[in-house]
Amino acid sequence: MNDTFLKACRGEKVDYTPVWMMRQAGRYLPEYQKVRSKLTFLELCKTPELAAEVTIQPVDILGVDAAILFSDILIPLEAMGLTLEFHEKIGPVFPNPVRDRQAVERLIIPDPDEHLNFVLETIRILRRELAQKVPLIGFAGAPFTLATYLIEGGSSKFFFDTKKMMFAEPELYSSLLEKITDCTTVYLKAQAAAGAQALQIFDSWAGVLAPGDFARCALPYVQRIIADLRKSTDVPIIYFANNGATLLDLSKTSGADVLGLDWRVDIAKAVEQLGPDVSVQGNLDPIALLLPEKDLRARVAKILAGGSKARGHICNLGHGIHQFTPPAQAKIFIDAVHELSRKTS
Ligand code: CP3
Repeated sequence: MNDTFLKACRGEKVDYTPVWMMRQAGRYLPEYQKVRSKLTFLELCKTPELAAEVTIQPVDILGVDAAILFSDILIPLEAMGLTLEFHEKIGPVFPNPVRDRQAVERLIIPDPDEHLNFVLETIRILRRELAQKVPLIGFAGAPFTLATYLIEGGSSKFFFDTKKMMFAEPELYSSLLEKITDCTTVYLKAQAAAGAQALQIFDSWAGVLAPGDFARCALPYVQRIIADLRKSTDVPIIYFANNGATLLDLSKTSGADVLGLDWRVDIAKAVEQLGPDVSVQGNLDPIALLLPEKDLRARVAKILAGGSKARGHICNLGHGIHQFTPPAQAKIFIDAVHELSRKTS
């Protein structure tokens, strides 16, 4: 198996910089569209053979150095007892948002073997099918990011109800976050036990918080999950606080092996700020994949130069790949990372 990705996570020596892309299994690939045309997104997540098939597509088509489980961060919230819908062009919707004590009390901590077995089964299939290929990344949403979907009832712009609960009803907010944290901890433990070889925690909305609020109301739950995971597994853990340029010093205290960097930060400066104890992942602007080849390669070279000073660097986008990206452009990115990092090392 190509273990370059795992080595970079741990800060071990590598022959070239490994690369994968957030949302690499998805709508920009015609091969994904073909599978997806036969069933809904949620049905696809819950059909292990097909979820495994689309997970492997970018590995075979693009030559990435890691596979990421095909699922969604919102899947365990459905298992907590909520109704989850995905609406075309709108995105995820929770028709019954969680905004009061009764709603929080109704949430259950699911037993992953019982309520989320389809995810664990997808992982088991993938480990068999990826055995000679690349490592498998499992994932979950960070508690704050998951809470925003539960409280707002879907995606949001101002996070009014989330912040209102955080500021005006701190005890209700923390009781909700505690429950999400417990659910996420058992869920990630089960993923590692089923065979996930690394775990990424997505904090997509961390960047809407002031540093003090992030430190008080988001980060401690991530720290708790990571500390708990360390008791039962030694798989590398990646923490990605999106839009987190002002949160880097705090994110470093999460306990993760790897910190994800979005494209808004200069990777060289971020590496200098973070120091030698942590690897980094990122950070090409996903829309930069549309650049002409020469310019795209120049951006890759700059990111590789910045990342080369880190303990370890996994090249990636600064957020998920956009659905209208031509796959051939994604391939130019992946090949450029491999080629240019071999030359410079
Ligand atoms: O990275 C991968 O390829 C693995 C699969 C994966 C998906 N979602 C598949 C998906 C992962 C890791 C996610 C994480 C996820 N989901 C996040 C965190 C990362 C980020 O983008 O910040 C968030 C916030 C979600 C919630 C979510 N799921 C939203 C807001 C949406 C709708 C917006 C959109 O892009 O359509 C989804 C749907 C979703 N998740 C799709 C895919 C492939 C598109 C569904 C489809 O095929 O119609």
